[in-house]
Amino acid sequence: MLVELLLFGGLLFLLWKSFRKPPELPPGKWGLPLVGYIPWTSKTFEDQVSDFHKQYGHIFLWRMGTQLMVFINDYKLVKETFSRVEFTNRPDWETFKFFEDPAIGIGSSSGALWHRNRRFTLRQLRDLGMGKSRLVEVVQQQTLKLRESLSINAGTPGRIPHQLFVTIINVIWQMVASRQFDAEDKKLKSFAKDMDDFVILSNRLAFKDFLPWLQTIMPEFLFKRLINYHGMVQMKERFFAYFYEEIKNHRATLDPDNPRDLIDGYLLEMETNKDDTETTYSDADLAFLVFDLFFAGSETTTNTFNWMCCFLASHPHVQRKLHAEIDEVLCNGILPTLTERPRMPYTEAVINEVLRISALVNFGVQHMANTDTQLGGYTIPKGTILSSSVTSIHYDNRYWVQPNEFRPERWLDENGKLSMKKEGFLAFGVGKRVCTGESLARMELFIITSMIFQSFSIAPPPGKSINLIPDLSGFFFRKPMYNEFVFTMRKQ
Ligand code: HEM
Repeated sequence: MLVELLLFGGLLFLLWKSFRKPPELPPGKWGLPLVGYIPWTSKTFEDQVSDFHKQYGHIFLWRMGTQLMVFINDYKLVKETFSRVEFTNRPDWETFKFFEDPAIGIGSSSGALWHRNRRFTLRQLRDLGMGKSRLVEVVQQQTLKLRESLSINAGTPGRIPHQLFVTIINVIWQMVASRQFDAEDKKLKSFAKDMDDFVILSNRLAFKDFLPWLQTIMPEFLFKRLINYHGMVQMKERFFAYFYEEIKNHRATLDPDNPRDLIDGYLLEMETNKDDTETTYSDADLAFLVFDLFFAGSETTTNTFNWMCCFLASHPHVQRKLHAEIDEVLCNGILPTLTERPRMPYTEAVINEVLRISALVNFGVQHMANTDTQLGGYTIPKGTILSSSVTSIHYDNRYWVQPNEFRPERWLDENGKLSMKKEGFLAFGVGKRVCTGESLARMELFIITSMIFQSFSIAPPPGKSINLIPDLSGFFFRKPMYNEFVFTMRKQ
């Protein structure tokens, strides 16, 4: 009898514990065991987070299913958090490890392998011309093609041509594999489609991460259908077949004295470390690294330029100032190089303001606590996921005067010089996992923006206006809505 009573008491204690949020955790929504807190509202996820921010303050908890999520809405606290080693890991989520478990490559991996790949990637991107003149020519040549496709439909309403994506992809592909795709390349078109689909399909994997118990109560075939298991496997095969083929070609033609690109660089490091028993170099790791660069570098930069078009088309006075600076510095149609950058502070200010106001990666990329620790006066248990609320911070009026206004001037000092204000700016993240491609992205955006608006002005179609409300249907990005533009050739 005593044993039964003790067991019953233990059960009651466990139930009570899972219904009640431990007081040492950050304030927030706890909800019910197994399902966590489900908001019964039609509000967007972003608005919901914003409401909780108002209710609970700069750090709050939201139990989603069985997963503890902590949202940080204060720039200084995000900076402190993501600079600490305890918060450097990526979540142990299916979204990150579906293709390979444990995750490899750079964007999804953790620990020593991530650290090594991050150092390798930063070195390679720097040596292969990130932010330097060597890549400038590739960006210029690709942007000339974008100009060509824009000029075909100049004067008539249309969307931003596919060539923008081709331009961005080709810059990455040049550094990674010394290759460039033709705009009509079938492989590239299927790549583009797969990347779009990946963002949508991978959302379904969240069932495994947030409601893992579903897998134990559902028949396997039904659960696999729920997470679109087969679609994801086929997508992985399509993506990686191409990368493995490139790795094979590179290995066959590798000249150790003349590494051509990032793939060669990796193969050489692999060879140097082949006798090291601890080594984690592999073809699979290299293929994932390449996938990560494609994924992290293409959607982000393409969507930022799309946002740029939306804001310039709806703010003609900003466009006029941009045109004036371009015409003065890039007179007689000369093409921009990095030498002109310091003389074009307004162009740089427009790019920064687009990055701020669009808050494209609206919740950053999630990090995970790799140990029980303290943050902001609260306990953060091991395995808790941490997200920065980039939109709240980019619209925080402690850092930005009239944050809802598109005002590039906020990035200029009283002498018209660029002031690279960092407080309150999180477009590329902060801390130990800050974006490795920031300089490359800024270089691409500078050349593409100045070359396109050297030749064109942009406006909404007659009688229409640009929709600046973000499309929040994907979890990772705050994309612009579908808009049509009229590009008109400028007389110079
Ligand atoms: C406008 C363009 C871009 C934006 C807004 C952007 C933004 C970001 C953000 C927010 C993160 C997450 C930081 C974190 O985990 O806390 C990130 C990570 C990353 N980005 Fe970018 N990015 C851009 C372009 C690029 C480009 C061009 C590349 C390279 C080709 C790149 C490569 C990466 C990689 C590899 C990571 C993962 C770093 C790691 O996990 O250590 N990004 N980026």
